[in-house]
Amino acid sequence: MAVTFRVFRYDPDDGKGPHFQDYQVQNEKGMTVLEGIFWIMENADPTLAFRCACRAAICGSDAMHINSKYRLACQTQIDRLKPPIVIRPLAHLPVQKDLVVDMQPFFDNYKAIKPYLIPKEEAQEKEYLQSPEERKKLDHHIDCILCGACYGSCPVAYGDPKYLGPHAILKALRFVDDSRDGATKERLAVVASEFGVFRCHTIFNCKEVCPKDLNPTGAITRLKNKILAEKFPILKFLVR
Ligand code: F3S
Repeated sequence: MAVTFRVFRYDPDDGKGPHFQDYQVQNEKGMTVLEGIFWIMENADPTLAFRCACRAAICGSDAMHINSKYRLACQTQIDRLKPPIVIRPLAHLPVQKDLVVDMQPFFDNYKAIKPYLIPKEEAQEKEYLQSPEERKKLDHHIDCILCGACYGSCPVAYGDPKYLGPHAILKALRFVDDSRDGATKERLAVVASEFGVFRCHTIFNCKEVCPKDLNPTGAITRLKNKILAEKFPILKFLVR
């Protein structure tokens, strides 16, 4: 059965400006939105630009706005959506062409939190050990695939491109909670900065759209509490 895909198109070189284009996609049972986009590229319009890689909700490269929600195209079945299927690129990032955005500002924010382990002492010859309990503390944030769905859905990121964003803040907590990491103070200073956690209005969109069911809103709240407890020891009860 044919399903209408209404796709955002923009080519900075063709002079047409941003617009939507309709395609009739031949849908088969179980087809994902990403497969529908491939169908367009292969059967109707080879000029359509989009990103994808693993097709298994692991690489995070095909996050886009599909029928009013940020989702991974490879994780979204066409049959579960009400046609027409309206597809836009991720918001708050410059569109390069069609569904492809420039992710540089998103990754610049991510880099600001130093997204790598900074060991407490000199590098050891063997691996750093962690108990199962210590490792379990990371379960809530380690699965982030940096797809950008949370960033696109966040109204604060819309108003302020310098806001670190839910992705970067969640990753900061991932390292703050890591028993092997020795840079907690440094990371808290970054997230406590002018463009960090206190910009968040606790809107929950980021939690709502996360394709990995993670909770950036909760991570932001925990970091706010840690920062406050550090500054005002009387608030230590806030820290779990
Ligand atoms: Fe944005 Fe999530 Fe905060 S949507 S305002 S980062 S709770």
